[in-house]
Amino acid sequence: MQDPKEQAKQRISELSEELKRHNYNYYVLNSPEITDFEFDKKMKELQKLESEYPEFLSEDSPTQKVGSDTDRQKGFFSRKRHRFGMFSLANTYNMEELYAFDARIKKAVEGMPCTYVCELKFDGTAMSLTYEDGILTHAVTRGDGEVGDDVIENVRMISGIKENISEGLELDRHPERRYLEIRGEVYMPYPAFDALNKEKEIEDEPPFANPRNAASGSLKLQDPEIVKERGLAITLYQIASENEICATHLENMELIRKCGLPVSKHIRLCSNIDQVMEYIGEWDKKRSELDYATDGIVIKVNELQAQKALGFTAKSPRWATAYKFQAERALTRLLSIDYQVGRTGAITPVANLEPVLLSGTTVKRASLHNYDCIRELDIHDGDYVYVEKGGEIIPKITAVELSMRQEGAGIPEFPEFCPDCGARLERNEGEAKHFCPNRNGCPTQIKAAFEHFASRKAMNINAGEATIAQLYDKGYIRKLSDLYKLGPEQLLTLDSWKEKSASNFLESVEASKKRPFRCVLFALGIRHIGETTAKLLAKEFGNIDALSSATREELLATEEIGEIMADSILDYFHNLENLKIIQELRSFGLNFAVSQEQPKTGALSGKNIVISGNFSISRDEMKQLIEDNGGKNQSGLSSKTDYFVTGEKCGPAKIVKARKLGIKPISEEEFYKIINSHEQS
Ligand code: IVH
Repeated sequence: MQDPKEQAKQRISELSEELKRHNYNYYVLNSPEITDFEFDKKMKELQKLESEYPEFLSEDSPTQKVGSDTDRQKGFFSRKRHRFGMFSLANTYNMEELYAFDARIKKAVEGMPCTYVCELKFDGTAMSLTYEDGILTHAVTRGDGEVGDDVIENVRMISGIKENISEGLELDRHPERRYLEIRGEVYMPYPAFDALNKEKEIEDEPPFANPRNAASGSLKLQDPEIVKERGLAITLYQIASENEICATHLENMELIRKCGLPVSKHIRLCSNIDQVMEYIGEWDKKRSELDYATDGIVIKVNELQAQKALGFTAKSPRWATAYKFQAERALTRLLSIDYQVGRTGAITPVANLEPVLLSGTTVKRASLHNYDCIRELDIHDGDYVYVEKGGEIIPKITAVELSMRQEGAGIPEFPEFCPDCGARLERNEGEAKHFCPNRNGCPTQIKAAFEHFASRKAMNINAGEATIAQLYDKGYIRKLSDLYKLGPEQLLTLDSWKEKSASNFLESVEASKKRPFRCVLFALGIRHIGETTAKLLAKEFGNIDALSSATREELLATEEIGEIMADSILDYFHNLENLKIIQELRSFGLNFAVSQEQPKTGALSGKNIVISGNFSISRDEMKQLIEDNGGKNQSGLSSKTDYFVTGEKCGPAKIVKARKLGIKPISEEEFYKIINSHEQS
């Protein structure tokens, strides 16, 4: 038997590592592997062990730090330190603990006025807006709680955000309001979320698992114009300041509302814990009527004096807590497990269940993610299992009801071979999923490769999933280059295809030969190489020969290319099949080099340019114009900025910042003059 102390030490280290990984999946990858409930359970176990064995409590334990949403490798946004740390909230799933929270507070602030404010807990991503002299100057993600990413350009695209709130703040009478960090949650309402996922489906991109991931993923996009289309929303729920702004939290909220910023209309003052319980009871039912996701209720001490007296723990305020709603779950029987081959060859086990009603829909299937997931849940054939939705589209199996297990039930066997093509499955070290390595021979993967190749951002060929499936099933396409060999005799055999559809298709195939190299590179479907990376690689290497002969070191020296990407590129070009496909595509006239056309003029060569506001042409066209003239688009102003081009509705904070940096803002017309004068010279 192991010594209990040694056992605790080992378990603490295990849980810490596990929770750090889950934090990374949740905050950085926006792709959680476990439910919030499971995460919170592990966190509580760790907290308990650390309080029993404080000698094993380390400074960087997940119990002492908030999860970080910044991916240090990317570095696209400038990083900004919060003047006041951004904390997390303690949480509970249990009403008893709320009575204990109330008792603790009453004891600590004895004699002081103390009431509560209840609010909905919005399920999005935390945001801190800095207002200096009433002007929005930064919009920073929580990051690690101390330093976050400044995503102001993206936040400007959220409806309800105001650039100037000086009037509402009445700064003349209240100079203490000159520096405020107003905090809230950026979220994506369900209608916007559904529309986005529908679009993703059409574009053949993986959908977001839930609105929270969609919101936080959207905030990290590099193009504010795309963010604008995403329909994000924001609600504000806290003022952080050196000075006391109002006497109570509720008055602070009223002030924010008066400034014209969005504040939830479901905030309620409760004079005691029983009223808090009533609020929770009401919203447990009513929240399903809201058109956005909430995962609980936040209970805050209303009086700021009392808040001050209560203070903070390492991670969260003592004056607030969250009551989290249990995700609805249902018990049903596991009938069988299918093993699905994904577009990249990854194998996902999917459970077939006896149909059961859950949150208003009938659930028949649930994802089991990977082999480890089946093992961790200890699933046996014919088990009764609990399924949960927890905000995600695909329900999940979260536990097994052991008391209902049949005697002698076997353990499901993970297949050794691909259910689609029969190739032996592989699993890379450190990766959770098994995959089928037969990329160029596995029907599901081949069809997926064609769909990707033809998609709008790649070769933009008029062929969706159904067309590709037919072309494949009829044996007309096997290698990407086969698309360029198709003629009316094959196309007219497709279901309900007439002359017109065939000629549209052929025209789009012809037009695809003019697509720029970056699109062709993206279209090849090299694993981990998305649209942005393909653009970067095209720019850096210029043509396919330089890229295919690049060494690992050369690839790694390229901005944003990490080890996984570099290895994937090397693997791709080491495969003879792939080299043959490239040769054939080349023979059909596709672009495998960046166009030799030099920038029209060098007017902006070597210049860094920031654009802000609306112009007579779209922002994308404006950016293209800058690149065509040899300039570089910068996302934010810095001492390196040469030109700051301002359009209509340009943010005043940017103008202030430009002045501070000594950069003179120029208009769209002045900008054109710079380009034209160079053309004439
Ligand atoms: S107050 C000091 N109020 O929940 C922390 N947070 O799990 C102040 N959240 O980081 C937070 N709705 O991102 C507060 N009405 C609300 C909220 C809320 C959602 C988020 C927030 C926080 C997280 C903690």
